[in-house]
Amino acid sequence: MRTIAILAMLAAFLIAPGLARAQGEVVVYCSVLVDWCNLMSQEFTRATGIRVVLTQKGSGETFAQIRAEANNPRGDVWWGGTGDPHLQAAEANLTEEYRSPALPRLHDWAQRQAQQSGFRTVGIYAGALGFTYNTQALARGRMPEPRCWRDLLQPAFRGEVQMSNPPSSGTAYTALATLVQLWGEEEAFNYLRQLHRQINQYTRSGPAPSRNAARGETTVGIMFLHDAVAEAIEGAPLRVVAPCEGTGYEIGSMSIIRGGPNRENARRWYEFALTPAAQALAVRAKSYQIPSHRDAPVPEQAPRLADIRLIDYDFARYGTTAERNRLIQRWEREVGSQPR
Ligand code: F6P
Repeated sequence: MRTIAILAMLAAFLIAPGLARAQGEVVVYCSVLVDWCNLMSQEFTRATGIRVVLTQKGSGETFAQIRAEANNPRGDVWWGGTGDPHLQAAEANLTEEYRSPALPRLHDWAQRQAQQSGFRTVGIYAGALGFTYNTQALARGRMPEPRCWRDLLQPAFRGEVQMSNPPSSGTAYTALATLVQLWGEEEAFNYLRQLHRQINQYTRSGPAPSRNAARGETTVGIMFLHDAVAEAIEGAPLRVVAPCEGTGYEIGSMSIIRGGPNRENARRWYEFALTPAAQALAVRAKSYQIPSHRDAPVPEQAPRLADIRLIDYDFARYGTTAERNRLIQRWEREVGSQPR
């Protein structure tokens, strides 16, 4: 379990002059990359004096934790992660209705996410799904340049592809739901069964395949494009591909956990996270999603949604408990549990 209690920050806070006075704590479940979780927490504490107790986990895992804690909620706010499990949490009444005054200043897709959930979640960033490949490994293995989802089924990619695991990772669920919407369910599962033979590992977290492709531990990684962009900016020999058939995207979301121990502080985090200044922190932590506030700067390197052939992702349908459970269970039965 990747639990990071930010107690050091309290010490820093006590000795650093000019910081806000201590105002209690807020327990944040964070489902973005840990550097961004940490930077947000530090800046929130600096601005408010509220200590942050942080746990970082993938979207599916965080949803499972919030559900398991429903009778005795320990978290206050769930910040980041793909929108589908946030919608599922809203449907299950695990999160609280809250309408931020900042809502009208958000992009339409972020407001739609709020409306669809009865204002129990809100969009904080967006990013498209795709894959990346390590150009050196590709050249070494004399593999053809993949441009489309179907290219990954070529014999050259046997054991060369990595993606995350749908039950734990929101990225993998987005991939599953994307292919179903792109081709219909039977065709999508036919593809996933064939892709299974090409897979060297299903990772627990969504961004891991891009990190592993950057290191040359896998030739191809399936993930959100911004995660591969982050590795490429650091100098990794990666090419980032928006698949030719079209692809899905996420609306990274934020929700207040119903019955959490620090309700007022949860709301302060929520408001802070919707400010353009807080959203601009992402790039300092090497995260390149599209921010949801209209006035937040869009990182120059962020993959632009308008340049990508996007499907009309049906968040209302694929964010329901029934659909998410059904598709993940079918994937486990027909794909994940099968020999490779
Ligand atoms: O922080 C990187 C990121 O890709 C987010 O954009 C996304 O919401 C999250 O990770 C998904 O992580 P996981 O697939 O592990 O749930």
